[in-house]
Amino acid sequence: MKGIILSGGSATRLRPCTKITSKQLLPVYNRPMIYYPLNTLIKAGIKDILIIIAPERAGDYLNLLGSGKDFGAKFTYEVQDKPRGLADAFIIGENFIDEDNVTMILGDNIFEDDFSEDIKNFKSGGKVFAKKVSDPERFGVVKFDKNMKAEEIVEKPKEWLSDYAVTGLYIYDNRVVSAAKNVKPSDRGELEITDLHNWYLKKGELDVAIVSGEWIDAGTFDSLLRAQILAKEKLQEKLVI
Ligand code: DAU
Repeated sequence: MKGIILSGGSATRLRPCTKITSKQLLPVYNRPMIYYPLNTLIKAGIKDILIIIAPERAGDYLNLLGSGKDFGAKFTYEVQDKPRGLADAFIIGENFIDEDNVTMILGDNIFEDDFSEDIKNFKSGGKVFAKKVSDPERFGVVKFDKNMKAEEIVEKPKEWLSDYAVTGLYIYDNRVVSAAKNVKPSDRGELEITDLHNWYLKKGELDVAIVSGEWIDAGTFDSLLRAQILAKEKLQEKLVI
């Protein structure tokens, strides 16, 4: 299993803080934000990790994280020259992924859960993780039938569909690379990760699990503040880096 942290993008919602640095390098209590998703991967036993970054901030990431040796891991870096969308990560990461399966986590997603078992037991297909939220319109949303079987996944639905957001940790088998190459840009001009979920869902090969602990997408000032409190009150003893 290979790991990817997607840590590019322009983070206009966090201006002016992100005018001089990357969102995922902003402090979340006592560590840079990216340490939390990195911790999630390393704790789950993933040691071979590709970090995808925006060109303007590449030097900062290298200075902060280096080769990965200090973390007991090996880091590889790729630059995403434009924020083309989340699915672009699997095209950029094609050579790195090689013939392996891959777990991708978003650089601004902070989880309380431990995903070691999900990653260890993964065989094939896709596995994503949903969480009930009060603001589903901000996310990819999954609709379940009465047996909690996923029926449909829609990116930022305009009409209410469900309260379950798809969180930013995805486990896919190697076919995700070729599936990503066939994704067409959406109306907002991005290669949507939701199209990849649906590619697996249509084949009956997408497992949607529920996240039991807290999860925060720290992409707004309010969620960043909540992330700081979660990190201080609940995450410190779970950190291995
Ligand atoms: O947080 C979970 C949500 O993440 C999912 O529910 C959605 O399905 C998924 O599309 C995504 O939605 P966001 O609106 O939160 O995505 P955002 O544009 O904020 O990008 C997520 C992270 O990925 C952020 O840290 C920036 C980085 N990024 C984003 C894009 C579009 C890149 O590195 N490159 C990109 O091209």
